Amino acid sequence: MADSCILAPDFWCAKDGVAVMNVVILLGGPGSGKGTIAGRLVAADRTLRHVSSGDLLRDAVKRQTAAGVEADGYMKRGELVPDAIIARMIADLMAGIAGPCTLLLDGFPRTVVQAEILDGTIAGCGASLAAVVLLEVADEILVDRIAGRRACPGCGAGYHVTNIPPRVAGICDACGSALTVRKDDNPETVKNRLAVYQAQTVPLIEFYEARGALRRVPGTGPIDEIVERVRRALS
Ligand code: AP5
Repeated sequence: MADSCILAPDFWCAKDGVAVMNVVILLGGPGSGKGTIAGRLVAADRTLRHVSSGDLLRDAVKRQTAAGVEADGYMKRGELVPDAIIARMIADLMAGIAGPCTLLLDGFPRTVVQAEILDGTIAGCGASLAAVVLLEVADEILVDRIAGRRACPGCGAGYHVTNIPPRVAGICDACGSALTVRKDDNPETVKNRLAVYQAQTVPLIEFYEARGALRRVPGTGPIDEIVERVRRALS
C-alpha cells in the first residue's frame, strides 16, 4: 500500500487482513468537479484507479461499439443511458481487475437501480464499498463551470477558460493540442442534465446516507483544498 493511500488502513484489511478491491463513489451534479478531483487523487496515489462512466461511454461512442451506438442519442440529449448498458460496462471492468486497488467510481451509480446492481457486482468481486463522497456545489456554479470547460483531445487534460485557464488560450499546456468543448456542454443539454440529476441521482444521497456511507464535502474553492477535504472525509 502506498504511504499516500487516501483510505484509512482499516478499509484495507477488510478480509482477514488481506487487501481487497475497495470502491469509493464520487457523487455530485454535472460539473461538480468529480473528474478534476479524481484526477488529482489518482496522480498522488498509485493504489487508486479512476473509472469515469462518462469517459467509458464517450470512448464507446467514438469506437462505435453496439453500446456506444445505443448510448449516443441519450448523451446528446443529456439523458441517462439505460441502466443495463452502463452497469454491464462497469461490471466487466471490475471483473477484469487483478490485485488489490481502490476503485474511484466517478459518475456511476447514477440511479438507485444502478446502485443496487453495483451492490451485487461488489459482492460478486469480493470487494467492499468504502465510502460515497458527495461534492456539494450550487447549480449556478455548476452551469458556469460547464460553460467554461475545455478538454484536451490529445492527453485528456481538463481546463476552464477562467478558473483553470491554459497558458495560451485554447491550447493544452501539456501536449500543445487544440482544446475542445464537449458535445453535451451546450446550455440546453446542461439544463436537462441538471434536471436529470435532481430527479434520478439525488435519491442516491438518501440511499447511501441510510447506510452511513455518505460523506458530504463542500465542492467549491481552490481545487487543492477540495482534494484535502476529500482525503479527510476518507480517513
Ligand atoms: P459525465 O461525463 O459523467 O458527466 P457529468 O456527471 O455531467 O459530469 P461532468 O463530467 O460534466 O463534470 P465533473 O463533475 O466531472 O466536473 P469536472 O471535473 O469536469 O456523463 C456524461 C453523460 O454520459 C451523461 O449525461 C449521461 O448521458 C451519460 N452517463 C454517464 N454516466 C452514466 C450513468 N452512470 N448512467 C447513465 N448515463 C450515464 O469540472 C467541470 C469544470 O469545472 C471543469 O472545467 C473544471 O476545470 C472546473 N472546475 C472543477 N473544479 C473546480 C473548482 N474547484 N473551482 C473552479 N473550477 C473548477
